[in-house]
Amino acid sequence: MRIILFGPPGAGKGTQARLLESNRGLEQIATGNIIRSAMKNETPVGLEAKSYVEKGDLVPDKVVRKLAENAIADRDYDDFILDGYPRTTQQAEWLTEFEEANDAPIHACISLQVPDDVIVDRLSKRRVHKETGKTYHLDHDPPPADVDSDMVVQRDDDKPATVRNRLNVYREETEPLEDYYDRRGLLVKIDGTGSIDDVHHRINNVLDDLA
Ligand code: AP5
Repeated sequence: MRIILFGPPGAGKGTQARLLESNRGLEQIATGNIIRSAMKNETPVGLEAKSYVEKGDLVPDKVVRKLAENAIADRDYDDFILDGYPRTTQQAEWLTEFEEANDAPIHACISLQVPDDVIVDRLSKRRVHKETGKTYHLDHDPPPADVDSDMVVQRDDDKPATVRNRLNVYREETEPLEDYYDRRGLLVKIDGTGSIDDVHHRINNVLDDLA
């Protein structure tokens, strides 16, 4: 199964993708994670991406295209969840070409609907483990007592000014892709509010219908 998990920053895409990895054997392909890893390792891609990510802007399309297509090919073109890709019309058009060229059509674009006030709460209280990359939320999913608190930090792009820019970029460049996938008959909108389990249950229902 080939799924796009879509939605604004902080909608819960990564949280849900990781649950789907363990429960349904789908692999998360998260361009944000790939880019952050490249930044940490100071690869050429990481060095190019750094200034964009720090401001909350999108990394240039051609850079992200290569990362996403390589990751899909590594997965043999099947059983994956795209988390954070595509994010522009250009990326969506390239992905459609890539699907056709590799006979690997996307089955659904599941869009998590979450209001801005909930997003701001989720991102301001998100914490990430420096080594494992595991994500926590200070209220809803706090780090367990045996996790060293010095290892659990706020993402640089979760600071309020950067979050505001990321939300603006989402509204201007990414949200219009809902229409693109609606026209292809692939868009499924899901209520992204409520508990992590509630949202997971809604997504599972959609995937059960597709199977
Ligand atoms: P990326 O890492 O993809 O960031 P994002 O899309 O902004 O998404 P987030 O990781 O912030 O949020 P999420 O939806 O995964 O939420 P999460 O599950 O963590 O991208 C970062 C940057 O990389 C971009 O700004 C850009 O510069 C670059 N980039 C990446 N892809 C690109 C592309 N295709 N093109 C160009 N540039 C690109 O949840 C958030 C918090 O809420 C967590 O604390 C979690 O525990 C909590 N939570 C989740 N669900 C619930 C719930 N139901 N109830 C309560 N709390 C919840």
